[in-house]
Amino acid sequence: MRGASRFPPWLTLGAAEGGVTLWTSPCHAARLRHVARLPKNCARARSTGAKADSFTSSTGSSSRAATARSLYDLPHLYDKVFGWRDYEAESDFIARVVEGGNEGGSAGPRSVLDLGCGTGRHCLALAEKGYSVTGLDSSASMLDYARRVIEESTRAGAGPLDVDFVRQDLTDFSLGRTFSAVTLLLGTLSHVHSNEDVVRCFTCARDHLDKGGALVLELAHPSQLFSLPLELGTEAWDVKADSEADGEEEEDIVVQYGSEDDAFDPVTQILTRTVTVKHPKKRKRLPGRRKARVLEDLPLEEEVEQRFFTCQEIRLLAELSGLKVARMYGDMAETCVLGTEEDEEFRMVAVLKRTDD
Ligand SMILES: C[S@@+](CC[C@H](N)C(=O)[O-])C[C@H]1O[C@@H](n2cnc3c(N)ncnc32)[C@H](O)[C@@H]1O
Repeated sequence: MRGASRFPPWLTLGAAEGGVTLWTSPCHAARLRHVARLPKNCARARSTGAKADSFTSSTGSSSRAATARSLYDLPHLYDKVFGWRDYEAESDFIARVVEGGNEGGSAGPRSVLDLGCGTGRHCLALAEKGYSVTGLDSSASMLDYARRVIEESTRAGAGPLDVDFVRQDLTDFSLGRTFSAVTLLLGTLSHVHSNEDVVRCFTCARDHLDKGGALVLELAHPSQLFSLPLELGTEAWDVKADSEADGEEEEDIVVQYGSEDDAFDPVTQILTRTVTVKHPKKRKRLPGRRKARVLEDLPLEEEVEQRFFTCQEIRLLAELSGLKVARMYGDMAETCVLGTEEDEEFRMVAVLKRTDD
């Protein structure tokens, strides 16, 4: 069950058991024995009826929800929706890559550049390990939130932490320094659709790597792209809205990535995915209790275009960018080499090095 608590959002669902929607590994449908790999701290969506078309559209709901265009505009909700991930374990893996381990990483000062850093959770975990971290993102809301995450942790006694954030495009950035590692986590690269832009992104990343440094990519497992019937379908999970002392009772939020009607373009390899976050069950609030903030933004519905990559593409795109693939894993674990651990693999984690290393 390794990796069960670190399920990324692009993993598929595709099985129904007793009316319960189950998560699957991205491996072929025939391998549905993987279905029980739900994150321990993440409840299953309760019904296969939780299809996108059964969700209330955000149109006509509260003005905040109506004006919100994307989960990336709502970082507090993003943080809640993905809060079950094991940032600590993932950062441990990145730290092992930086420190050398199997990769022979650089011996210089330890620093990480996290591209598409989002709410800054990996930045925080790495800074707490003593790394000098820079988080880069194009979203002002994400960056504001990430700064608050670091400030609050510093105030809570974690600090001083060596973290800064910059607002730039990950396909065209220049920071005037290099790092021990550059990371692109949780399928952030799926937002980069053309080969030209991927080469631009990889080339920028390469130019920001120390000699001996590593670029770490976390992507969907390639079997998702090649499974027939296509397994790029839906996935769903529940999270608790709030459990803060001043908040209301805990309530479930249902998150769904993908709907049956989503279109996959086999030429561009882009899946247009419907993402819905809803709060199906409204409980009566107790007098004097505040509504959990994340609920104010629900329901949320958006379409996200995600490009899926093959392993061979990553190798070629790396070569075109002055990089080479040093390792390919099926999980953030050195023992899980891509293509060898059917039962364990559920994502593609590529460790790239500069070709001149
Ligand atoms: C899937 S989220 C991942 C966030 C974070 N790395 C994590 O693991 O939770 C993708 C992030 O990439 C950012 N992003 C998308 N396209 C970008 C671009 N062209 N330049 C910089 N950031 C971008 C989004 O704003 C978002 O914060």
